[in-house]
Amino acid sequence: VSDSKPLDIVVVGASGDLAHKKVYPALFALYSQGLLPEKFHVYGFARSEFDESAFRERIESNLTCRYVPESSCASQMEAFLERCSYMSGQYDDPESFKALKASMADRHDKAANRLFYLAIPPKVFSDAVRSLGEAGLADEAETNGHWSRVVIEKPFGRDRASSDALSRDIAAVFDEDQTYRIDHYLGKEVVQNLMVLRFANLIFEPVWNNLYISRVQLSWLEDLDVGGRGGYFDHYGIIRDVMQNHLLQILSLLTMESPLDLGQQVRNEKVKVLSAIDPVRMDELVVGQYTANTYKGREQCGYLEEDKVAPDSITPTYAASVLHIRNRRWEGVPFLLRAAKGMDRKLTEIHVQFRHVPGNVFCPMRNNCLPPNELVIRVQPDEAIFIRFINKVPGLGMKIDTGELDLTYAKAYDHIIPDAYESLILDVIKGERGLFIREDELAASWDIFTPVLHQLEEERVQPEPYPFGTKGPEKADTLADRYRARWR
Ligand code: BG6
Repeated sequence: VSDSKPLDIVVVGASGDLAHKKVYPALFALYSQGLLPEKFHVYGFARSEFDESAFRERIESNLTCRYVPESSCASQMEAFLERCSYMSGQYDDPESFKALKASMADRHDKAANRLFYLAIPPKVFSDAVRSLGEAGLADEAETNGHWSRVVIEKPFGRDRASSDALSRDIAAVFDEDQTYRIDHYLGKEVVQNLMVLRFANLIFEPVWNNLYISRVQLSWLEDLDVGGRGGYFDHYGIIRDVMQNHLLQILSLLTMESPLDLGQQVRNEKVKVLSAIDPVRMDELVVGQYTANTYKGREQCGYLEEDKVAPDSITPTYAASVLHIRNRRWEGVPFLLRAAKGMDRKLTEIHVQFRHVPGNVFCPMRNNCLPPNELVIRVQPDEAIFIRFINKVPGLGMKIDTGELDLTYAKAYDHIIPDAYESLILDVIKGERGLFIREDELAASWDIFTPVLHQLEEERVQPEPYPFGTKGPEKADTLADRYRARWR
């Protein structure tokens, strides 16, 4: 990191899952690669009472030594844990944050950059930000010629209005350019590669439009249940949990115009394309909910039987919809989006389907044509890019077949693929904002889903049941049929 000033990292919500499973392991990964400043300290803050050693043990259980040799692993972990302290307090109580401020002043001189990571439930975002402000923590670094940044992770509200209200609460304490809204999918290796693929190569951009592409499919599937987060999930559902953020972010990188730089201009282009997307229509949305089934040899309960889920809940665990972009490049190309839990696999994949070759001599009159070219970008698992094309089968005569150019990362690269959080936290420290969501971008993405989300709730639309571990509701196939597509 070029900025060698001391760094104070405050993890608000330090006893929770996000902090333990993602934030601390990412900080350790950065530390073990020498990417944190020489002088840094991580202040954990949360409601639960922990003594420091119990807290450190808990952090340690999730640390892994991916970047250091086995022999120095234990000593690196110990050195990192020595820089981690813990304090309990209430998120809505400025006095608790003043106590934190006092402990920070004891440890460092005041001259340190400050990063506040809010790894807390959404209902206490505003309280925590306000308390940080009232305790004088938010601007102390700035008045000393250092930076102060806040990191906040979705859900940003439940709809456009509540998201705007949250943005206003944050803006009362932190400026927009101090606010880093994380969508961790933007930190994923293959998602970061989307811009490189499109804008650093010549072969894609000329055909990247409605003249050559017939449709695009984005699938986000998990073969998991709501994993102990029933209360959270029931309040949000799969559209708010995944579609409105992770899938829309991927879609905007896939469809935006070429940016003039890799910072603000990326966000400008994303806002433009998001603003060109029509709000989702109810007749182009299918919602489902998983039911009990035996999956991979175990009994899986249905969504309605999950802990902290209302027994008559209509919250979707599956959603499929079609998005339309009203601009010159994309008018007429359907974007089929699907996000679901309780499926038969874990997979995040993008399929770009090209049109048939006009006047193709290998299938005159469009009879017996092989499927046209397709670009497949697999975000996870097994990161990969494939191009499907038509090829002559070697041998006498003219037999043609579909071949595949395969760039599977595990085969092509001998590199460790960093966790998304490592990459994003490093960007926050460096002050690189290109991969974070700006307020107007967030607003534009809520506008696409807010009307239909309200309609689902007002009309109490019943999701179509599907057994856990299967391919989801049949109505989704009917929706895809309308666009002569098949879910892949
Ligand atoms: C989160 C969602 O944003 O992403 C979860 O809230 C989901 O429901 C998770 O399971 C998936 O993340 P990843 O990185 O495992 O694909």
